Amino acid sequence: MSVTENNVKKYTTFGVDANANEVYTFSNIDRLKTLLNKYSKERHLILGGGSNVLFTEDFDGVILINKILGIETVFEDNESIHLKVGAGIVWHKFVLHCVNEELGGVENLSFIPGSVGASPMQNIGAYGVEIKNVFVELEAINKESMEIERFDKSSCKFGYRESVFKRELKDKYVITSVTFRLSKKPKINSSYGAINEELRSRGIKNPTIKDISEVVIAIRQSKLPDPKKIGNAGSFFKNPIVTKNILDSIQEKFSEVPNYPVDDEHVKLAAGWLIEKAGWKGKTFDTYGVHKKQALVLVNYGGANGNEIFKLSEQIIFDIKSKFGITLEREVNII
Ligand code: FAD
Ligand code: EPU
Repeated sequence: MSVTENNVKKYTTFGVDANANEVYTFSNIDRLKTLLNKYSKERHLILGGGSNVLFTEDFDGVILINKILGIETVFEDNESIHLKVGAGIVWHKFVLHCVNEELGGVENLSFIPGSVGASPMQNIGAYGVEIKNVFVELEAINKESMEIERFDKSSCKFGYRESVFKRELKDKYVITSVTFRLSKKPKINSSYGAINEELRSRGIKNPTIKDISEVVIAIRQSKLPDPKKIGNAGSFFKNPIVTKNILDSIQEKFSEVPNYPVDDEHVKLAAGWLIEKAGWKGKTFDTYGVHKKQALVLVNYGGANGNEIFKLSEQIIFDIKSKFGITLEREVNII
């Protein structure tokens, strides 16, 4: 189906104005191939929910929005089930499907916006779980050969907010389905501090996966802005991984700095904490700014220009470098 509106604003959660030459949706592989063939000389951008992109200028090319649906059981035994999920399915709808069927593994990832097809792009993660923990394989169309190829876990090269599709295979494939392994005997993962606190305050001692899902939704709603009301793309930056020497030097001044072990020599710091300490939290510049409750989230209060938001991110990167000696990396895909 051709979409008549070529302004990308309504297809993204940041909600900034930018025009594309054409915008189409596709709900099956034949349609996708037809569109890729028809526009083979133009740039393409694949979008799911548009919740991890910031347009800083018009897109001189064709936007293809993935709407491939369907959930299929491809393997099942007493312990687990493998579900092959259409890339266009809304991620949280898939999570709710699993929670309702009492299939464990993705409940900690409740309420992350976007599509199933984008979930491997940055190995989405939250509250102690990443999709690599439940990932079996994915299918993707090679945009050059038009063949469907399969990627197992190791060929996806998952890392913290990373995969091969953000690096060496960037823009070369369209992910059409992802297969996940869900457990019929779910193990509850409530290791993340905020989950435990919320369970305790609700008086829940033996949580079910439904409890975990509900608690995660409540925590997320309490700190992250709702994109329907305030434009944003979640964390704008990644949490930096630094050497223990850098941690020591920050701790000399701020003993309370949150840090999480990575390996013998490295720790992960909270970029939100660094940005807050540097004085940016809640800063507002007319139509855009840094969110009041979560300094890692840059926001569009309405009518902001993508380039202004990008420039704000540059200022923050510069300031954190000069104050802490750490270079923040953007998580959001800049178009
Ligand atoms: P899009 O924004 O549409 O696309 C993202 C990138 O993937 C683009 O480069 C696009 O070209 C590419 N892409 C999309 N679909 C395909 C496909 N089928 N094939 C090939 N390339 C594709 N992320 C987390 O990891 N954890 C969180 O806790 C989290 N919380 C968030 C909270 C909020 C309020 C918001 C707005 C975002 C949050 N995010 C989080 C970021 C975002 O939800 C995820 O990155 C999500 O996976 C993006 O999905 P999407 O379909 O919207 O991707
Ligand atoms: N913090 C501050 N000030 C802030 C924000 C955070 O001091 O303004 C501190 C918190 O007090 C806490 C620490 O930083 O000690 C971590 O905060 P939080 O638990 O809110 O998580 P985060 O590191 O800010 C990450 C992910 C989120 C994910 C949550 C929960 C990244 C870049 N972000 O945020 O993912 O939902 O953990 O697991 O890894 C996203 O990727 O878009 C995203 C929202």
